[in-house]
Amino acid sequence: MDTLEAMNSCIAMRYLKPDPLPRDTVRTLVHAATRASSPGNSQGWEFVIIDDAGLKADFGAAVGAAMAPVFAHRPSDLPGPLERMYRGAEHLASHFANVPVWILGCGRKVYPPQAPQDVFMYSTIYPAAQNLIVAARAMGIGTAFTTFHMTIEPLLRQRLNLPAEVIPCVMIAAGYPERAFTPVRRRPVDEVMHWNGW
Ligand SMILES: Cc1cc2nc3c(=O)[nH]c(=O)nc-3n(C[C@H](O)[C@H](O)[C@H](O)COP(=O)(O)O)c2cc1C
Repeated sequence: MDTLEAMNSCIAMRYLKPDPLPRDTVRTLVHAATRASSPGNSQGWEFVIIDDAGLKADFGAAVGAAMAPVFAHRPSDLPGPLERMYRGAEHLASHFANVPVWILGCGRKVYPPQAPQDVFMYSTIYPAAQNLIVAARAMGIGTAFTTFHMTIEPLLRQRLNLPAEVIPCVMIAAGYPERAFTPVRRRPVDEVMHWNGW
């Protein structure tokens, strides 16, 4: 698939089939992630793959409990797209254990070596994560970027044996899509583009 077409239809796929993703396929996704740029080529990224049913069940129960009030108390008058997003996120959280693979993108605060900063850790993992989701789209695999890790970090650390210096930054669901890929809806390019000044 053409790269621009993959980017244009790389929607958050929160409805995924439970069919397993082959481990070689997941490896290809992480390979794509690690082709990304990083400051000073520091590559302070790590990817913890979660495809174990027991881990997914435990994390899913914890995410479900943590997110329940967020979903329950969302405003009743949300605009359509935002309401659909909430519904999708709720579906994803409640089907956490059925998602074939969760990819926990982590960072290490390593750049610049003389005075490491958080900003460079996040600016390392996010381009890698974007590479991963676009590669997945090109391979016909759906993904959804989430921050679910933030709700259960102590449990993740304990069950996944994360070293203290490894920081979970993004938790990506991956699997074959249950719904069609459609074009992403974004602000028009002419609205956000400024030639030679604002
Ligand atoms: C940093 C980041 C955090 C996100 N967190 C979540 C999340 O916790 N749950 C979720 O369902 N989607 C999450 N998303 C996905 C966005 O909500 C989604 O990309 C956006 O609504 C646009 O929808 P689209 O990608 O389908 O066009 C996140 C995206 C980013 C970049």
